[in-house]
Amino acid sequence: MAYHLSLSLSLSLLLFTYFPSNSQSNQFCEAGIGYDEVGCGISSSSTKLLIKGGTVVNAHHQEIADVYVKDGIIVAVKPNLTVGDDVKVIDATGKFVMPGGIDPHTHLAMEALNTESVDDFFSGQAAALAGGTTMHIDFVIPVNGSLIAGLEAYEKKAKKSCMDYGFHMVITKFDDIVSRDMEIMVKEKGINSFKFFLAYKGVLMVNDELLLEGLKRCKSLGALAMVHAENGDAVFEGQKRMIQLGITGPEGHALSRPPLLEGEATARAIRLAGFVNTPLYVVHVMSIDAMEEIAKARKSGQRVIGEPVVSGLALDDSGLWDSDFTTASKYVMSPPIRASGHGKALQDALSNGVLQLVGTDHCVFNSTQKASGIDDFRKIPNGVNGIEERMHLVWDLMVESGQISVTDYVRVTSTECARIFNIYPRKGAIIAGSDADIIILNPKSTFEINARSHHSRTDTNVYEGRRGKVTFSL
Ligand SMILES: *[C@@H]1O[C@H](CO)[C@@H](O)[C@H](O)[C@H]1NC(C)=O
Ligand SMILES: *[C@@H]1O[C@H](CO)[C@@H](O)[C@H](O)[C@H]1NC(C)=O
Ligand SMILES: *[C@@H]1O[C@H](CO)[C@@H](O)[C@H](O)[C@H]1NC(C)=O
Ligand SMILES: [Zn+2]
Repeated sequence: MAYHLSLSLSLSLLLFTYFPSNSQSNQFCEAGIGYDEVGCGISSSSTKLLIKGGTVVNAHHQEIADVYVKDGIIVAVKPNLTVGDDVKVIDATGKFVMPGGIDPHTHLAMEALNTESVDDFFSGQAAALAGGTTMHIDFVIPVNGSLIAGLEAYEKKAKKSCMDYGFHMVITKFDDIVSRDMEIMVKEKGINSFKFFLAYKGVLMVNDELLLEGLKRCKSLGALAMVHAENGDAVFEGQKRMIQLGITGPEGHALSRPPLLEGEATARAIRLAGFVNTPLYVVHVMSIDAMEEIAKARKSGQRVIGEPVVSGLALDDSGLWDSDFTTASKYVMSPPIRASGHGKALQDALSNGVLQLVGTDHCVFNSTQKASGIDDFRKIPNGVNGIEERMHLVWDLMVESGQISVTDYVRVTSTECARIFNIYPRKGAIIAGSDADIIILNPKSTFEINARSHHSRTDTNVYEGRRGKVTFSL
């Protein structure tokens, strides 16, 4: 949030903090109503706040209560609190007071295909705050395989930050230096999750031998292994096949990497993690094929975590066939957004506990950047928006539709992420002692999502025309 707290050494996830020099007092970020580039939140110096009469929701419990906040920390959560005159009071009657969203999967200012995603650590976080997300975890990409150099580069990118964030680390090669640096990440840098790409052949992809080394190292360090699960060799083959057939448009992206390649890689990663006996986190589960592998593994008692992303829950692949290239290309991400039916199955899996938390894979390239693939879908930079829309769409798709309760909403958008990445209960809860990363959601007031009014720097939005609930982030 915009209150900035000193680093607690007990955390195993690194939380960088930043004080915007020009942060304005009493300025809230409000989705649907506008946003001022100066910054979000309330100034941090000795602010006392009482959020009165709202329905306070945690993953384990909800009740009508007041929340008393002092200097960015929640001091008390009780009905009918009495406080002094120097406390600013916010009336939350009829509204939900919830832990701010935590997005476990973003790529701000990420380099890809000779360009960089247009939301950096300022604009992406501003969009997040406007949409009720108060923390995110981004992926450090090593520089020439070096974790240390990669972290330095990302620390530089993150100097623009206006909210709390953490990092996962991507592993692209394995040798004694990487092995040593993984230990430094865990013991000194607070990074305890490592991601392996089974796709993007020749760029980020790792083979089974490297994956096994990485899984073993994660196990010995007590760190969590994450995978992007698509068979990169087969995707490469599928892409060649599409080009040979003369299918060069965005639809070729979906056709070249069908769900079975995601299912194969998910199954393989799960089995190798089982073989090494270490937990596995599968990022952006996009298909029934992958989800069913996770369901099977969990049923057998294996520790596998499945993360759907908003685009996979909310969209289908029809947009990729749009005759307008700008429209079609904005949906290009990997694994691809799937045919109708996959999204509903993923929603069901989220509501029945097969999948545990929702991310976004927010990685935006604008229409100019996407146009570099106008003659060849392989050159369209991959990624869709979502950091600003996630909280709204999960509410709309899952809570309004009656598929999950409001307490489950808090769990899948915030608490579960905090637990998995070791920042609970400092984040992900509204209880005394937690950070005051709080959102107030008005279930009766809606606004329309569109590229004209969103806060991201990109000029398109894959959720154009969807409805969100007006939300304040404190
Ligand atoms: C809080 O105050 C309201 C209104 O004064 C009252 O109706 C309610 O019973 C009180 N709740 C508790 C738990 O004291
Ligand atoms: C990566 O390594 C190559 C070859 O060793 C070198 O030319 C290049 O400058 C390095 N890049 C960075 C960013 O260090
Ligand atoms: C997209 O971003 C690039 C790089 O920042 C910029 O040069 C270009 O003008 C942008 N295009 C649009 C349509 O915003
Ligand atoms: Zn990603």
